[in-house]
Amino acid sequence: MSDEVKTAKSDNPEEKHHHHGGKFSEGLLDKELILNALDIQPGQKIIDAGCGNGYMSKAFADKATYSGKVYALDHDKHYLGILKRETEGTNVEAIECDITRSIPIDQASADLIYISTVIHGFSKEQLQAFLAEVKRLLKPNGVLAIVEIEKKETPFGPPLNLRFSPEELREVVPMPPLGTIEVGKHFYMQMFKNTEKPED
Ligand SMILES: C[S@@+](CC[C@H](N)C(=O)[O-])C[C@H]1O[C@@H](n2cnc3c(N)ncnc32)[C@H](O)[C@@H]1O
Repeated sequence: MSDEVKTAKSDNPEEKHHHHGGKFSEGLLDKELILNALDIQPGQKIIDAGCGNGYMSKAFADKATYSGKVYALDHDKHYLGILKRETEGTNVEAIECDITRSIPIDQASADLIYISTVIHGFSKEQLQAFLAEVKRLLKPNGVLAIVEIEKKETPFGPPLNLRFSPEELREVVPMPPLGTIEVGKHFYMQMFKNTEKPED
């Protein structure tokens, strides 16, 4: 497993707190499976949108190495502040911003945009605004990876009517789908590619 990741706060109980009605997904998702599926390469630029405590931002940064960069975005001052202090001087840049508004990153600069357990909290308008930013920020052939809780009764999670099935995601995201994988008990990851033509 990725023990080499600088998980400075893994012993910090704060990261397990509830937040905005939902916990961070750390411990619920198979990190290695996600990293392998996304095939993170040295030099890549990655956006972790709605990063929470940033545990995936750090894992991505480890794979992207110092020739790459991870932008960890969240509007939560508290958790972002902690992440900023932890990642000072590393290849993680923690940016406090609203990801449904304009994101302060150059267009066509991201190889991957990862958004985990965030979009079920968006209104239709917020989702559309976020997806417009995704189109602006992704490089040609860049990947959008959306992790969500499955749309059926589970021991935890948001009301069913707020959840997306992979099929529903494929209807709203204006990019060709790449594939869907299970990334934890009750969680899936749906990937999309920023091309004009469907690839599979
Ligand atoms: C359930 S947490 C998931 C955090 C992390 N992605 C994970 O998988 O553990 C949702 C996160 O999205 C952030 N968030 C929600 N709406 C946002 C917005 N409009 N702009 C920036 N961050 C947002 C919240 O502050 C919170 O940290």
